[in-house]
Amino acid sequence: MVQATETRNRTNSRRWFERAQASLIEGVNSPSRGAAVYTPGPIVLERGKGSRVWDADGNEYVDFMMSFGALIHGHAHPVLVKTVSDAMAEGSHFAASTSAEIEAGECFRRFVPSAEAVRFTNTGSEATMLALRLARAHTGRRKFLKFEGHYHGWYDPFLLNAHSHPPEYLGKPENPARIPDSEGIPSSIFDDVVLAPWNNEAALEAVMKKHGHELAAVITEPIMANMGCILPRDGYLQRMLELSHDSGALLILDEVVTGFRYAPGGCQQYYGVTPDLSTFGKALGAGFPVGAVAGPRSILDRMRWSEHMVLHYGTFNGHRLTMKVIAANLDLLSAPETYAKLHAVGNAAIAGLRDVFRRRQIKAVVQGFGPMFQIYFTERDAIHDYRDYCKYVDAKLYSRFVHALLDRGIYMTPSNGLHWIISTAHTDAGAENDVEKLIQAVDQAASTLS
Ligand SMILES: Cc1ncc(COP(=O)(O)O)c(C=O)c1O
Repeated sequence: MVQATETRNRTNSRRWFERAQASLIEGVNSPSRGAAVYTPGPIVLERGKGSRVWDADGNEYVDFMMSFGALIHGHAHPVLVKTVSDAMAEGSHFAASTSAEIEAGECFRRFVPSAEAVRFTNTGSEATMLALRLARAHTGRRKFLKFEGHYHGWYDPFLLNAHSHPPEYLGKPENPARIPDSEGIPSSIFDDVVLAPWNNEAALEAVMKKHGHELAAVITEPIMANMGCILPRDGYLQRMLELSHDSGALLILDEVVTGFRYAPGGCQQYYGVTPDLSTFGKALGAGFPVGAVAGPRSILDRMRWSEHMVLHYGTFNGHRLTMKVIAANLDLLSAPETYAKLHAVGNAAIAGLRDVFRRRQIKAVVQGFGPMFQIYFTERDAIHDYRDYCKYVDAKLYSRFVHALLDRGIYMTPSNGLHWIISTAHTDAGAENDVEKLIQAVDQAASTLS
């Protein structure tokens, strides 16, 4: 049982982290896992089962980060363990045509109605990269529109204003300051990027009036998941689709976070918006690295071999073991009540959190619904966009709060830009009630905030 009061011994985590400095940059393989986010350093995780993880010192946690949302069935689901070990025994990958990839493609199409066809990649970043290339080839246009605060992976042209910054750096919403997220990207790459504020219909209409005719695509996250969890205003995604089509641009819905999470067909099904292209990753692979681009044949067929094709190679594309996992994952997800349960457990957690903050008179908003949400310490009633996030959210307080939770058996990233994830392994009833443990720990952590 997770004890909610203990401050954990992290001796082994610290030792591993010190040792890691010799071989890994900052001791990790992605800055979001290291000392930039965790103080004084990361908790080194050793194993997981269901909704729980254990660290190198044997401490147990309920995991609400779930590999940034990849682990839709939690850790080491027995069906997936068997699928992987059976597939491994037969050969992990052939880089050749396999029945596994054909079956994975068929399962995918049953879930995602806009997928006349699908192309599997290895990560979400590769999927968005491919989607943009397809859109450019299809329209014969070079530029594309991205929104402030949206993250679409680490491909050069997407790395503009994906990080948060102090409000005074942001410029005017109608003419946002353009802030690259990385060194090493030629500034000319960003000449093809039109930047706009999100969730603001009038601003989008103005930008599309000016630039629509030159855009290959508008790319958006349907729910902003990299500034926490920010929902689209009513009708906003539909309007974005209309404006894109009116100007001959494609709408790329980046469902890398939201896909297979809110509904079988992702946010496009939940909100009733049919994009031209959509991208997937994370939950699709249930813990294995994969991405996907889905859409109509008229666009995806551009990858057919010809003099004028859109090139997409990859040794590990359609990785056999991963394809087997996709089919098993989607089979598990198609069990009756899966999505109703994901929503119910998430909504119970959200209600419990709101109750704690209300009782303790802490100014906080718990935003989102069902399988994904985020806590913002803010005086505002809601966070509607990137600028709200940069201006009004106390991300430092959130980090302190999550560190207090880590000491109380709840595993989560202290980065406010990410989000809490509910998997099919989480429970809100029974002896191992994850939601109850969360609320108990939050209640105690909240008392440390003043
Ligand atoms: C919306 C979105 N798109 C794309 C990506 C990139 O996916 P990956 O990390 O698998 O490359 C991410 C990753 O967090 C994401 O949040």
